[in-house]
Amino acid sequence: MTETESPVARRRTFAIISHPDAGKTTLTEKLLLFGGAIQLAGEVKAKRSGTQTRSDWMGIERERGISVVTSVMTFEYGDCVFNLLDTPGHEDFSEDTYRTLTAVDSAVMVIDAAKGIEARTRKLFEVCRLRDIPIVTFINKMDRESRDPFELLDEIEKTLALDTAPMTWPIGRGRSFAGTYDLKTNMVRRLDHDEQPIQASGPDDDAVLGLLPEHERAAWLDEIMLAQEAARPFDLQAFREGHLSPVYFGSALRNFGVRDLIDALAAFAPSPRGQQAAGRLVEATEPRMTGFVFKIQANMDPNHRDRIAFIRVCSGKLTRGMKAKLVRTGKSLGINTPQFFFARNRALAEEAYAGDVVGLPNHGTLRIGDTLTEGEDIVFRGVPSFAPEILRRIKLQDAMKAKKLRDALQQLAEEGVVQLFIPNDGSGAMVGVVGALQLDVLAVRLQAEYGLPIAYEQTRFSLCRWISSEDKVEMEKFMEAHNSSIARDLDGAPVFMAPNTFQLRYDEERWPKIVFSDVKDYQ
Ligand code: G4P
Repeated sequence: MTETESPVARRRTFAIISHPDAGKTTLTEKLLLFGGAIQLAGEVKAKRSGTQTRSDWMGIERERGISVVTSVMTFEYGDCVFNLLDTPGHEDFSEDTYRTLTAVDSAVMVIDAAKGIEARTRKLFEVCRLRDIPIVTFINKMDRESRDPFELLDEIEKTLALDTAPMTWPIGRGRSFAGTYDLKTNMVRRLDHDEQPIQASGPDDDAVLGLLPEHERAAWLDEIMLAQEAARPFDLQAFREGHLSPVYFGSALRNFGVRDLIDALAAFAPSPRGQQAAGRLVEATEPRMTGFVFKIQANMDPNHRDRIAFIRVCSGKLTRGMKAKLVRTGKSLGINTPQFFFARNRALAEEAYAGDVVGLPNHGTLRIGDTLTEGEDIVFRGVPSFAPEILRRIKLQDAMKAKKLRDALQQLAEEGVVQLFIPNDGSGAMVGVVGALQLDVLAVRLQAEYGLPIAYEQTRFSLCRWISSEDKVEMEKFMEAHNSSIARDLDGAPVFMAPNTFQLRYDEERWPKIVFSDVKDYQ
């Protein structure tokens, strides 16, 4: 075993995907409790109740009671080191969420037992599917009135085209919810004695049936017999390939079923996987350090104007004090103060391995999508940018500050707050966002950090697409014919802007050699 193999094998880097209100915050808090990362239940939640926590760094977040930032929490449980990458709950921040999902090896899908698969869960699931990320399913809120478990499994299978393997089965539901039954081992976990499972001889053991009201027992026996007979068995390979999800039932609020879930992550979830770079796959156990930036966060500490780039280590060992090559510029970067994040604290990271996420404070050197290596010229693929759904021109109140605005927009675009487009015809810069709340965040930050009060102006464009073609001549012709609808993004890549879908379709049909793309991988 090489020096990096065993730390890599211990790591589980995952995210939780869910629809708002399904219980992600509650589950996160309980997972952190298991890992001893926080002492008091309620600390994650404090964000909402107005008590200020450290991650609650920006006024806008406080005002709206939402978490606008993606953060990472590291904790240990059993033999494993877990890196839980938090994804913002508000759908306006979906871009951040998608980028975060490029940095995980597995995901927990939380489903509200009364509601089943909801819109946002489906969307996030699809992003996971693009990368074949294995999913563990947690059906939450079993202590409330909920839907028939078969129906829920069926819905997952049909709407997501994902096979399910129930690992536990609920004993009762809603008010009668008394615990879960392990379909393979016949172990019973009782709601109020989660930590002491009992061994039953079978579902008809009195120790099991006694947990249910008498009039529910016969129906439950029928149900579990069917589950034992008909349920698909768990298949580790199918899970690892993203085709099958083990399913656990529980109640995050009652801290029930969470132990099963974390044990499942330790036992089945993959350790850091190889990451695709242009040209080759980089294995997690390779000795030389590589990593990529998937998130930039500013102002984590309002007292220090810092900007933190979150990097996922993909291979080798990152050590404090080492020098890394920033492939985009070819320059060398001193990694002097890499940091780990816990629920409430950060700490200097002396060393980090594949799967770990470290924060690198910097003053604008690092951008989303950047690759860091120990010298090799590789670029990781897969931190995408999504075509904005809202385009606005920025109106500056003080025209003398145009240069300052340009610099500020450039910096904020590098952080991924908004996308910046410079029109070819010399008209004013435009910003593009996927969700309207990003516009508010931009305005607040321009005012607070750069002293630039701004307003937004509508433009005649409502959507845009990155354009490319293998036929250079055709590309030039297209650009010439549409000069006033072409802009350049932050990297200088050409973008076609259209007033509506009709116009876009029209041009797509007329110019078959031009590729119009709504997703762009960072180069
Ligand atoms: P989210 O992050 O996915 O948006 O969900 P969150 O954990 O905030 O949970 C949403 C609501 O559902 C919360 O209630 C939470 O207490 C409740 N909840 C979460 N898990 C369970 C569960 O297993 N059983 C039951 N019965 N409820 C659960 P709230 O009233 O909106 O917030 P609060 O006033 O309780 O803080």
